[in-house]
Amino acid sequence: MHMRIQRIVQYLLLSAGFLVPSLPAASFAANLEKVEFKKEGKAVRTISVNDLRALARERSLEVFEPHERQNRVYRALPARAVFAEVFGKDWEKAREIVFTAIDGFQPSVPVKRFLHHDGYFAFANENNGSFTLTNKLQNDEAVTLGPLYLVWDNTNSKELLETWVSDMPYQIKTIDLKMKEGFPNMLPPPGSSEDVQRGFNHFRMQCAACHTINGEGGGKAPELNYPESIVEYIKPEYLKRWILAPQTIRYNTHMPALAEEISNREQVTTEIIAYLKAMSKVKRAPSGNPGNVSR
Ligand code: HEC
Repeated sequence: MHMRIQRIVQYLLLSAGFLVPSLPAASFAANLEKVEFKKEGKAVRTISVNDLRALARERSLEVFEPHERQNRVYRALPARAVFAEVFGKDWEKAREIVFTAIDGFQPSVPVKRFLHHDGYFAFANENNGSFTLTNKLQNDEAVTLGPLYLVWDNTNSKELLETWVSDMPYQIKTIDLKMKEGFPNMLPPPGSSEDVQRGFNHFRMQCAACHTINGEGGGKAPELNYPESIVEYIKPEYLKRWILAPQTIRYNTHMPALAEEISNREQVTTEIIAYLKAMSKVKRAPSGNPGNVSR
C-alpha cells in the first residue's frame, strides 16, 4: 500500500515536470512573457509563452537565419497547431495574419503561406543560450527575439529563402487574424496599371512591415505618403538608390537594402516607385491619430 502511494506521488511529480532535469522541457526557465491573440482586432486570448508550450508539440528546428546569414537551431512550436488551438479550425479560412512586434515592425502574412509552408514560433535557443541575434541587416544591432519569433522550415526551400526577412518578425507580442484585406488605404487606386499593381505587391512584401502608407502598415519606420509623399521630396534617382543601397546615402541608417536574394532588384524597385507615385495622388490622413501632423 505504502509503496503504491509513493509510486503515485512519484508519478504525479514526474508528470508535473519535477525531478526530470534530463528532459529538454525542464531545461528552459518558465517564460511568463505574454502574447495577445486577436481576431479582427478584438482580443481572443492572452497567453504566456509557457502556457503556449502546453498547446502544441515543440521541437528543435534548424533554420537559415537571414539576419545573421547562417544556420541556427531554435526550440519552436508549429504555427498551424498554435492557430488551431487558439482560433479553432476556421483560422484556415482567414485571409492574412498581422503580427505586431514590440519595436513596431508589423508584417502581414497571407494565411496561404502558413498552409503551404511550415511556419514555427521559436521561443528559445536550442542550447539555452540567450534568445537574441545580431541583425546584420541593421548595423549589426543586437536584438532580443522573445516573446515569439516567427521562423520557417526554410533550409530546403528556395522560395522561402527568397522571401527573406519580411515574413520573419521577432519580438511578436500581438497576433491578429484578419478575415479580409487588412489595409484598404494602402491599396492602389482602382484602374491602376499593372506596373503599379506589381509595385504594390512588392511593397506589401518588402516595405509595409516597417513603413506605413496613409497610416496603414508597420510603425517601425516613417510614413511614406502623408502629408508629403517621398516621391515629392526625394529626387527620383536618389529614391531608387535609397531602396537598393541606403547605406550609400545615409551613414548608419537602420533601413536595410532591398533583399540581395531578389533576382530582378532594379525592376522591382522601379515598380515600387510607380506604386508610390500612384499613392501620392490618393493621400488620406492616418485614422486614429487626428492632428498628429502639423504643417
Ligand atoms: C526593416 C525595416 C525597413 C524596411 C523593410 C524598409 N525600410 Fe525604409 N526605412 C526604415 C527606417 C528605419 C528608415 C528611417 C531612416 C533611417 O533610419 O536612416 C527608413 C527610411 C526610408 C525612406 C526615407 C524616408 C525619409 O523621409 O527620410 C524611404 C524613402 C524608405 N525608407 C523607403 C522604403 C521602401 C520603398 C522599402 C521597401 C523596398 C523600405 N523602405 C523598406 C526601415 C525600413
